[in-house]
Amino acid sequence: MTVQIAPSILSADFTRLGDEIRSVEAGGAHMIHVDVMDGHFVPNITIGPPVVRSIRDATQLPLDVHLMISEADRFIPAFAEAGANSITVHVEALRHLDRTVALIRSFGARVGVALNPATSITEIEHVMDLVDMILVMTVNPGFGGQKFIPYTIEKIRRLREMIDQVGVACVIEVDGGIDLANMGDVLGAGAGVIVAGTAIFNASDPGAVVQEMLEKASVLGYDSKYA
Ligand code: DX5
Ligand code: ZN
Repeated sequence: MTVQIAPSILSADFTRLGDEIRSVEAGGAHMIHVDVMDGHFVPNITIGPPVVRSIRDATQLPLDVHLMISEADRFIPAFAEAGANSITVHVEALRHLDRTVALIRSFGARVGVALNPATSITEIEHVMDLVDMILVMTVNPGFGGQKFIPYTIEKIRRLREMIDQVGVACVIEVDGGIDLANMGDVLGAGAGVIVAGTAIFNASDPGAVVQEMLEKASVLGYDSKYA
């Protein structure tokens, strides 16, 4: 199994965002996770396409854009044009998941679908072969720095089984409350992409934390090449 690390800039120092991104890039991060919130689907507001465009110019890494917004279809074109390499949408916020998946694909971006902690994995059963990534939220979306919800481990495991049974290639991304202490648990359950915000950017050297995470993954027997 391969592991990829996706630092979430939500917890970065926005006055020095370029430096923060360079630090995690030097530490071996595989992509930059960008959390977009609209104050409607989730009780918080973050950033929009202009910031994604600026980040695009600041790094070679793929931009993994996580849309926690009510009307994703209206904004997908702007995020794709701003340079998002993958766009992830929440099933809870969509009326026509299949149509939205096709819309993201039409821009040539990788497609992710996200499930809140309490949302059943059966919600995405029929689109599994149409998406590149399934994001299992391990906290309720809206804020960085929340505590990992333990029951999501079993959910990741069951999703992993479902993916393997169907035999599709999509990866499981996990997001929320993940750090060096619990990353082994989510990897063991079958996650392939680890998002971490606070654990990485609250440290004095974010790049060093990414490196430690990669070392830990390697000790646990995972390969950390970018796929
Ligand atoms: C939560 C976001 C996450 C979060 C991760 O709504 O989607 O990406 O910021 O941050 P930590 O690692 O601090 O939970
Ligand atoms: Zn996120």
